Amino acid sequence: MNHEELIGFHNQYVMQTYAGTTGLMLVKGEGSHVWDYKGKEYLDFTAGISVCNLGHCHPEVTKAINEQASRLVHVSNIFMNEYQPLLAKKLISNGFDGVVFFGNSGAEANEGLIKFARKWGSDKDKYEIIAMENSFHGRTLATLAATGRSKYRKGFHPDMPGFKFVPFNDIDAIKNAIGPNTAAVMLEPIQGEGGIIPADPAYLTELRALCDEKNVLLMFDEVQCGIGRTGYFYAWQGYGIEPDALSMAKALGNGFPIGAFVVKRKYAEVLAPGTHGSTFGGTPLACAAACAVIDAIHNEKILENCQTQGHYMKKKLAELQGRFGSVVKDIRVRGLMIGIVLDRNASELLPDLMENGLLALSAGENVLRLLPPLTVTEKEIDQALSIIEETIARKISS
Ligand SMILES: Cc1ncc(COP(=O)(O)O)c(C=O)c1O
Repeated sequence: MNHEELIGFHNQYVMQTYAGTTGLMLVKGEGSHVWDYKGKEYLDFTAGISVCNLGHCHPEVTKAINEQASRLVHVSNIFMNEYQPLLAKKLISNGFDGVVFFGNSGAEANEGLIKFARKWGSDKDKYEIIAMENSFHGRTLATLAATGRSKYRKGFHPDMPGFKFVPFNDIDAIKNAIGPNTAAVMLEPIQGEGGIIPADPAYLTELRALCDEKNVLLMFDEVQCGIGRTGYFYAWQGYGIEPDALSMAKALGNGFPIGAFVVKRKYAEVLAPGTHGSTFGGTPLACAAACAVIDAIHNEKILENCQTQGHYMKKKLAELQGRFGSVVKDIRVRGLMIGIVLDRNASELLPDLMENGLLALSAGENVLRLLPPLTVTEKEIDQALSIIEETIARKISS
């Protein structure tokens, strides 16, 4: 079967729900690089949208998947498997003492958080969740109801009830919104899809105190910003503000689908036997892959590289802004979660960047988003930035 025919099949038989589909068919990946079926190489600064944080086809993760695939792929949660408890212990050992539920995606992890909050509040008549404007939490009905950008909810009415939106980074708005029925406040410590917008440290400090005072749960969605992306294993560690519960997915399996949410130990009994489940949640294969991911993060000093390269990126981007101030309006960098705020719609640049060998993303309306693998080198950053610079220069002159 040749690739042109496969592209035809894609267009004819795959449901066309992805607005940003490029038409590029990728067939191979290694580290920060991917190749299309014609053999053209690209520098991948999308990492599968913060999924392949260790780079494509990391050898230790590949080995773990291969070995486990030939031993035991799946058993239901009626039985225990060796890797699920090991992975739970590794997640807890990274600094959050609690208990873990395993699912398969970010949306499923956030559904779990929402169910957890409702269950916790059920005997106190607390059910409402305060979420943030400009947030993104997933595509299922409950996570859409928590997503503070109406374009994602359009056409799927009625919204699931029980959600209230407030502006991000506005503590007074939350003070006004919290009422006797509020069970939880839910937010991304760094808004990803919304445009790489970090929470202010002072805001999170006040929010933590407010939630404690009002007996309201504080829940962080770390699906995009977690698992090392900001230079800390959990994004909240960069703030020193611990939530009551948090979700993760994307980079946990470095591409193998797995999601999870964790609640503090004191809430371990809230979701009691029979209240939550998932057929594929925590299979031996997914958990073996994720164990290899966490080991590699530590053994290969990935967090350190993320911080070092994040600083380098910040310095280089400030220089870029100095040269192209009319186009580059602001730079937002947290570890290797990077937003370049432009004077124009960032999606305009993506095809040209791709043509020049760089895969990048947009976010919000006018943010060019870079999410390179956390293994990225200075040389690869230089290459990517020179492609961005050339592309901007050509846009300005055309
Ligand atoms: C912050 C955040 N939460 C949830 C999700 C949904 O994750 P998934 O696509 O795995 O369901 C995403 C996906 O981009 C995300 O960025």
